[in-house]
Amino acid sequence: MQSNGIKSVTATGQKTQQKTQQKTHIRELGINFDRWYAVARSTEVQNQPLAVTIWKRAIVLFRDSAGTINALEDRCPHRQVKLSHGKIKGDLIECAYHGWRFNPQGECAEVDYLAENQKLPNCQIQSYPVKEQNGFIWLFPGDATKAETIDLLDLFEWEHLNYIATVSVINCQAHYSFLIDNLMDMYHGHLHEDLQAWANPVLDTLEIDEERVTARYQAQSYYKIDKIWSISQLFFKSLRQLHPEPLEVSYIYPNWASTLGNDFKIYCLVCPVSETQTKAYLIHFTSLNAFWRLHKLPVWFRKFIKDSCFGAAQKLLDGLVRQDVLMIEEEQQAFLQNSERKSYELNRALASVQKLMRSQAENG
Ligand code: FES
Ligand SMILES: [Fe+2]
Repeated sequence: MQSNGIKSVTATGQKTQQKTQQKTHIRELGINFDRWYAVARSTEVQNQPLAVTIWKRAIVLFRDSAGTINALEDRCPHRQVKLSHGKIKGDLIECAYHGWRFNPQGECAEVDYLAENQKLPNCQIQSYPVKEQNGFIWLFPGDATKAETIDLLDLFEWEHLNYIATVSVINCQAHYSFLIDNLMDMYHGHLHEDLQAWANPVLDTLEIDEERVTARYQAQSYYKIDKIWSISQLFFKSLRQLHPEPLEVSYIYPNWASTLGNDFKIYCLVCPVSETQTKAYLIHFTSLNAFWRLHKLPVWFRKFIKDSCFGAAQKLLDGLVRQDVLMIEEEQQAFLQNSERKSYELNRALASVQKLMRSQAENG
């Protein structure tokens, strides 16, 4: 007997088993919860609680009196309202409704109107492993005992003085697989016209393992960051000249990373919200590695340059995101209208990407 859902036929030709189990459609896959997800930027969580959602789980982030970040289920156990409407009181988060206060472990720690003969309610909400690293808040929604065995994506360029960062937030009404397909298929540069950073990609090699798919393209780049005024290419199209550069894109589950020559690195930190909603942070780094004279200057000055140039590629990045999101959301709408309609694919990287997505979601 087969149990994989494939029809089997006996020697007499009679059907013995019908399809029993449908494979989940790639556009409806869940996620591997046992991974670290970037759920917010550090700057988004100051002295107010922040509500975030990872795969339909509502979570509240808040800082305690030492500035340490904490993550709890966003639900007051008293009457099930959202704790994120409340306030932070020292190391506790206080519900807006009746003012019960909860500690970072999710236990009810204080109730102002407790009578002398009453004890604190023995209620506890779920707390999640959470870390703050390289400008982002990373949450582990799965089995907390595994959290320390799983690495975060190493975004070292965030702190490195040789990289100028720009961040664009992606909020799209679409399943995360549409976003990953978009990011891994460099032939979609056609969409970006004037904003296009790369041209004429040809898929060269694919490297695949359980955690990652890397696609290497031969391509051309419009930008070359080798002069101190090179950054002005971001603003003036006439200064851009096509030249060959390798283009590498990697799906490092659940995130994405790419390099274009030596000058650019882009990351996409993906936070799937639901089957039809995805939040992500697109982070573009322009490298200053070519400017060896700059590296001899005092650290405070290099830091000043890094901070002053933060967001230099904002217009470019936001423009790219707008164009991509429009396409991705149309794909989602088309899928919702008719999930049986066949799509066609010419980029062989995508089959490997979708296979990885499936194995992570189903076996993670
Ligand atoms: S609902 Fe939260 S304290 Fe009452
Ligand atoms: Fe794009």
